[in-house]
Amino acid sequence: MSELRGVSGTDPLYQSLAAHDAPYGDAALPDKRQVAASFSRAAESYDAVAELQRNVGTQLLARLPTSLRPRRWLDLGCGTGYFTRALAERYAQGEGLAVDIAEGMLRHARPQGGAAHFIAGDAEALPLQSDSVDLLFSSLALQWCADFPRVLSEAQRVLRPGGVLAFSSLCVGTLQELRDSWLAVDGFVHVNRFRRFEDYQQLCAASGLQPLTLQRQAEVLHFPDLRSLTTSLKDLGAHNLNPGRPGGLTGRSRIRALIEAYERFRQPQGLPATYQVVYGVLQKPS
Ligand SMILES: C[S@@+](CC[C@H](N)C(=O)[O-])C[C@H]1O[C@@H](n2cnc3c(N)ncnc32)[C@H](O)[C@@H]1O
Repeated sequence: MSELRGVSGTDPLYQSLAAHDAPYGDAALPDKRQVAASFSRAAESYDAVAELQRNVGTQLLARLPTSLRPRRWLDLGCGTGYFTRALAERYAQGEGLAVDIAEGMLRHARPQGGAAHFIAGDAEALPLQSDSVDLLFSSLALQWCADFPRVLSEAQRVLRPGGVLAFSSLCVGTLQELRDSWLAVDGFVHVNRFRRFEDYQQLCAASGLQPLTLQRQAEVLHFPDLRSLTTSLKDLGAHNLNPGRPGGLTGRSRIRALIEAYERFRQPQGLPATYQVVYGVLQKPS
C-alpha cells in the first residue's frame, strides 16, 4: 500500500482520517472559531486546490439576473477574494464589500483588491445596516452556518427592496463516498454534515424572499488516491471539524481498511468525490 509509506502524525492523511465523528445527526456544525481558524490556516494553499470552488462560483455568477445593476454588492464568505474581483469587474459602477469570518482569508484577499472594504463578520450576524445592499453573493460558504434561517433573515434585513441573494452551498450526498467508506470501517460518520436539499427548499420558501432559482447539481472530482483527496480537503480548510471527534491518532490498520473501502468506488478517471451543489437565487420583494 504505497499510500501508507511514511505516514506520520503530521501527515494530512493521518490527521484528517483521525477525525472520529459522532454518528450523523448527533451534534451541530463545528464551532465558528474552529471554522475561522481552519480557513485562516488554509489561506495560502486554498487557490491551488479550489478548482471545484471556482467552477461553482462561476456557475453562480451565470445565474445572476442580467438586469441587475447593484449600487452596492457584498461577497459573503469571500475567502481569497477570487469572486470579489470577478464581481468588481462585472459591477464596476457599484461599491463592493467583502465579508469573511476568517481573518487569515481577509489578510490574503485585501491586498488583491476588488472591494472597497474587507470586513471580518459572520453570515448569521452581518455587520451591515438594514436596507443597504442590492446584491448578496455567497459561494460555498453558507454550508458552514448551522442556523440557515438566521442567514436568510439577515439577507432579508440587509437587502434593499428588489435586492438579490445569490448563494451556492452543499447538501446531503456531498463526499458520500468518503462517508460510506468510513461507515464500512467503523460505523461512524467522519465527514462534515450537510443539510438536505429539501431543507433548503423549505427554508427558502419560508424566508420572505422570493426564490427565482433553487437547483441541485452534482459535481464529481477525481483523485489518484485517497491521500490526494484528504490533502486537498485540508488545503481548502474544509476537512472534518465536527464536534465529537477525538484528538487521537488513527491506527494504520484503520487507514488501510479505509483505503480498501474507498477503492471499491474507483472509476477509470480515479477515485471519485461527489459534491451535491445547491444554487439559490432569491429576491427581496419590492
Ligand atoms: C470554501 S471557502 C469559499 C470562498 C470563496 N467564496 C470561494 O468561492 O472561493 C468558504 C469561506 O466561507 C467562510 N465562512 C465560513 N463560515 C462563515 C460565516 N459564518 N460567515 C462568513 N464567512 C464564513 C470561510 O472562512 C471561507 O473563507
